[in-house]
Parts: sequence; C-alpha cells; structure tokens
Amino acid sequence: MLADLDTMEREALAELETVTDAAALEAFRVRWLGSNGRLRSAMDALKTVPKEAKPAVGKRLNEVKAAIEGAFNVRRDTAAAAPKGPPIDVTEPGFAVGEGARHVLTKTIDEIVDVLGRMGFSVADGPELEDEWHNFNALNIPESHPARGPADNFFLGGEVAGKLLLRTQTSTVQIRAMESMKPPLKICAIGRVYRPDAHDATHYSMFHQVEGLYVDRKVSMVDLKTTLVQFAKAFFGPEAEIRLRPSFFPFTEPSAELDMKMRVMRNGVPEWRWIELGGCGMVDPNVFKSVGIDPEEWTGFAFGLGIERVAMRKYGISDIRLLFENDARFLRQF
Ligand code: FA5
Repeated sequence: MLADLDTMEREALAELETVTDAAALEAFRVRWLGSNGRLRSAMDALKTVPKEAKPAVGKRLNEVKAAIEGAFNVRRDTAAAAPKGPPIDVTEPGFAVGEGARHVLTKTIDEIVDVLGRMGFSVADGPELEDEWHNFNALNIPESHPARGPADNFFLGGEVAGKLLLRTQTSTVQIRAMESMKPPLKICAIGRVYRPDAHDATHYSMFHQVEGLYVDRKVSMVDLKTTLVQFAKAFFGPEAEIRLRPSFFPFTEPSAELDMKMRVMRNGVPEWRWIELGGCGMVDPNVFKSVGIDPEEWTGFAFGLGIERVAMRKYGISDIRLLFENDARFLRQF
C-alpha cells in the first residue's frame, strides 16, 4: 500500500503539470480530489489495511493528500491570476494615436503676437466683462450713441443690468493700458469680443480682435501706415499691400478702414483682392483727456483687426463658422 501511495503521488503531480486550462484543472480536481476520486478510494481502502500497518499507511496517505491538494491550489491560484481572453499577439500592428495640434486661430494669434513683438509692441490684457466706462465713455462714445443700445451689446441682467457688458471691442484695453502706464507706450492686446451679430460666412457673435496702441511725442499717420505695411509684409509675405480708406470711429481722428491686398483662391484660381481687416486712426484728444494724458504733449495711433478675418485670408478659409465647429477633419489641415 505504501508503494501504491508513492506511485499515486507521482502520477497526480505529473498529471497536474500537463494541465493548461480551466476545464482540465476542473477535470483533475474531480478525478483526484472529488467525492468519487482516487484519494477518496485510497482512504476507503485504509479500512482493509492490517491494524499494525495502519498508522504508517494513514500517515503516508495524509502526506500524499496534502501534497496533491497543495499543488492543485497553487495551480488554481496561478490560473486565476493569469490574464483572461485570448493570448496577446505582440506582433499585431498597434492603433495609431492621434496627435493634438494648435487650433488655427491660436496659431494665427501666436504669429500676430510674434510679428508685433518684433516691432516693439508688448502684450497688454483686459477683462472680457467690462463696464460702460471702458467700453464706451472713455472711448469718446457718448450716452446717446446708437452703438450703446441693447440691440448691439450683450449687457448683463440682474442687479448689474446696464452696467456691465461683454466687451464689444479690444479698444477697451487701450483705456486700461493708458490708465495704468505712463506714455510713451506701445502695446498690443488680443482677446475675445462679443456682438449680437447674426452668424454668416464672415460674422460670428464671439470673435477675436488684435488691438495696437502707440503713444509717444510726435506720432503721426506716417508711423501708423508704416507699422501696418510692415505688419502686413511680415505676416502675409513681401507681396502684401495695404490701403487706408477714410472712415469714422469716435475714439480716433482721423480714422480709416484698413484693407489688405491678398491672394485669395477663387474656384481654385489665385486672385488678388482688397479685403477689409479692421479699423485704425490717430488717438482722439478726448480719449487722452479721459485717461489724464495731455493731448498737447502726446500723440498716438491705434488699430484693431478681426483675427478670424486675418486667419481666413491667410489660410484660405471661406466660412468663419468652420473655425468654431471643432470638426477635427477641418482643423487637421492647418
Ligand atoms: C472696431 O472694433 C474698432 N475697435 C477698431 C479700431 C481700433 C478702430 C482702434 C480704430 C482704432 P470694427 O467694428 O470695424 O472696429 O471691427 C473691427 C474688425 O473686427 C472688422 O474689420 C472685422 O474684421 C472684425 N469684425 C467685426 N465684426 C465681426 C463679427 N461679427 N465677426 C467676425 N469679425 C468681425
């Protein structure tokens, strides 16, 4: 009987080595450890062993049982910890990971800041939620001006109704800069502005502007035009041209609309056209007075351009709405 138990132990452990999946492990358990299994039969057979041999055989049987159960438990725990599902094929091709990129507007803004920075403009900032002083009064836009009406502005409701609004132009930062810095100063400001304009191919209710302001002694229209020509050539290329058309803004005198001659694609054919990008002019003396700068001593120019329009022209985008739809297929092109 002792020799049989040795054989039984060897067989069981050898068989366990060949078990590779859960079904085979279960079959092993039933065959060896189950209620009708081989260990059970060996225990039953102990009854027939002569009395004097019983202690030694019983002891050996317990050892064999412990060895087989122990080996089975180790095998079962290892199988439970192993990853489920089909084996991993490390030679399979992987999934392409999509690379992120800067939005075309962010790219345009960075390029504008870079060009203006090289021309000596430092970046200034102001809040998008503004008061009427910075958005209108200080910019020489009187109480009675039609542009101050609720149809042209996003005023806040509630307690601050009529007092705070989403700024309609970055010209507000001109005022904030002149309130906090003494001339001479040369700043640019970039940010979002808001107008209740209906959405179409060239208009959106939220868009971005870049503002430029230069205040010094004896600044003239020549400086303004030179700056804009240099900006256009640096930004759009040496062939770029600009044109100033007389216009009106309450905060500049004289004022002009700024057009740039640009190569646009029409039905796949390149064509040179004048495109309006923004407004500009010499800072109105009333604006200087509102921020405590002496207009007899200081002069200045200012300009404000629509950044979406600049990006659309630079990158040949025909509809402003594409810039805000966040369709990755569109954005991936830039
Ligand atoms: C102004 O906002 C003046 N603050 C510009 C200025 C600054 C003049 C400094 C003088 C001195 P205007 O309202 O024209 O001007 O807007 C300037 C530019 O913003 C436009 O030429 C256009 O490029 C862009 N723009 C205006 N409205 C929209 C809109 N709804 N959607 C997209 N771009 C717009």
